[in-house]
Amino acid sequence: MTRNPPTDRRASTRDHASGVEGRLDAADGTDTVVDDRCPEYDVVTTPVLVVGAGAAGARVAIELAESGIESLVIGKRDHGDAHTTWAAGGINAALGSLDPDDDWAIHAADTLNEGHHLNDPEAVELTAKGMPDRIRELDEWGMPFDRTDDGTINQRYFGAQSYRRTCFVGDRTGEAVLETLIDRARELEVPYRDNVMITRLLSDGTRIDGAVGFDMETGQGMLFRTNHVVLAAGGFSALYHRHSSRDDENNGDGQALALEAGARLADLEFVQFHPTGMVGDRYGEEWDGRLVTEAVRGEGGRLYNADGERFMERYSPDQMELDARDVVARAIAQEIREGRGTETGGVYLDISHRDSEYVRDRLPAMVERFDSLGVDITEEPMEVAPTAHYTMGGVGIDFRTGETGVEGLYAVGETVAGVHGANRLGGNSLAETVAIGKHVGDHVASEVTDGDDEPELTGGHRALAEREFRALDDLAASDGTITPRELLDDLGDALWETAGILRDAEGLRNGLDELADIRARTADLRVDGDRTSRSFEYAVDLSFSLTVAEAMLRAALERRESRGAHYRTDFPETNPSWRVNILVSIDDGELSTSHRGVGEPSAAVREALEEGYELDYHHLE
Ligand code: FUM
Repeated sequence: MTRNPPTDRRASTRDHASGVEGRLDAADGTDTVVDDRCPEYDVVTTPVLVVGAGAAGARVAIELAESGIESLVIGKRDHGDAHTTWAAGGINAALGSLDPDDDWAIHAADTLNEGHHLNDPEAVELTAKGMPDRIRELDEWGMPFDRTDDGTINQRYFGAQSYRRTCFVGDRTGEAVLETLIDRARELEVPYRDNVMITRLLSDGTRIDGAVGFDMETGQGMLFRTNHVVLAAGGFSALYHRHSSRDDENNGDGQALALEAGARLADLEFVQFHPTGMVGDRYGEEWDGRLVTEAVRGEGGRLYNADGERFMERYSPDQMELDARDVVARAIAQEIREGRGTETGGVYLDISHRDSEYVRDRLPAMVERFDSLGVDITEEPMEVAPTAHYTMGGVGIDFRTGETGVEGLYAVGETVAGVHGANRLGGNSLAETVAIGKHVGDHVASEVTDGDDEPELTGGHRALAEREFRALDDLAASDGTITPRELLDDLGDALWETAGILRDAEGLRNGLDELADIRARTADLRVDGDRTSRSFEYAVDLSFSLTVAEAMLRAALERRESRGAHYRTDFPETNPSWRVNILVSIDDGELSTSHRGVGEPSAAVREALEEGYELDYHHLE
């Protein structure tokens, strides 16, 4: 027998109605019948639930613990194995270690310029101003920063930044940040729970009353009773065929959960394509799209096409390989499109002109990885091509508080929109996790009251949770013919083709059609295994991914201009009247878009913008 996937909720076009259908006011009350088909589940109570165990979630939890507030941090993977570990090249802070003229206002100005002035100026200032202290704090907590000969924290060049501002630990900076935060969280006895996936937030559209999910190792359902949920669940770049994340992370869960709970998403059309992902045909499918850190270019790496031309001279003679990521990615894509790429579909990135000991010292992870593939990068070039790397858009929050507009629901890190606008500076994602993470943790702590230790658990909450558990069981029992992985792959191909580095209206409409077709095919889903299987996890991901992909395509179709990472071949110019954020919400069960004006930066940042600071690449040579 072929079953519908869970639900007419999970992956069908009625998906968007489900948040409304599942609202507490529809099912609240003690007379709710609890269906005895529902399997057993655990009830976990916590004052604050932090969904996501990467740097942003960890930093929120540390702040809560330091304010005496208990939280529970849950992650989909083993403890310490969050996507943060893949952030390589560095973390930005205007310390001025090597360039004493740098300061936070110039960092903010660079961030706004890179974001094409769609960023939330408040978010940018909080990040840029807060970072020097956050770096000193990480240093105190034991982070093994690279240092100059006189012992100061070292800083390297990164793309489109006026000064050397990127602090680093070789090219394993994300790993070092996360290890440091986890050690600190351990000292503070922050409770963590690994291998848990959240599938739904309990919300009446205006406030949060908990969350529902399951233990990925045992399959046991879990009902979290809490009045405060912080989403720190990453972005959605893995929706694309070529991406720098692992396949099972950055699938849009945080954005979809928030949207279904009543929050608005913003800036979804801005997807960052990192210029230098590994080329699968050269290094093997499992490496396709994985990151070759920008630190290679920050340390002097040069890009060449198959004809041996250093082609960035044509696209950006002043900033060269260290121009903004969108500029370098488009240049590489153009070289490949016009037939000047390598046989395996990339271009060359070469650092072999630098002293080999220097390369080994600054880029140990790259040296090791390529070495394992039989390539000595101190002697020969790497083959690279753009890869989906980061999503600037996400949940719209008020940066003063981290609030999403749904009471008790907050969001941080890549899950949110605002710090990066239309494009992100390399090194600003790790910065955002700790700068905004601390700030939001501080605010959430101030919101927690005594009653939050024992939040109410009504029959309505149970009924909603049980409905979700039954839907998950139905999903696990899907016995059609198409696996969730196949549909996720089809989605990845569709997005890569229709909403990639270059887009136009026709392509984006095709993308929506292809999405509708994939949704229709979810009626014939086959899940291989129970709730503990990878196939089941992909089936849950599929629902989130389809929701977020549709929202992203709609936003990309709506923005009829080119700006930052969003390049419309049918509207190639930036149009000042589009200096607005595009918001997506669910209205009457349908996705709808609206526009919101962008705020203005403070006088200090305006002054830095007027100074016109800019990276002079030729300092590096
Ligand atoms: O290339 C990199 O090392 C990436 C850094 C980032 O995205 O911030």
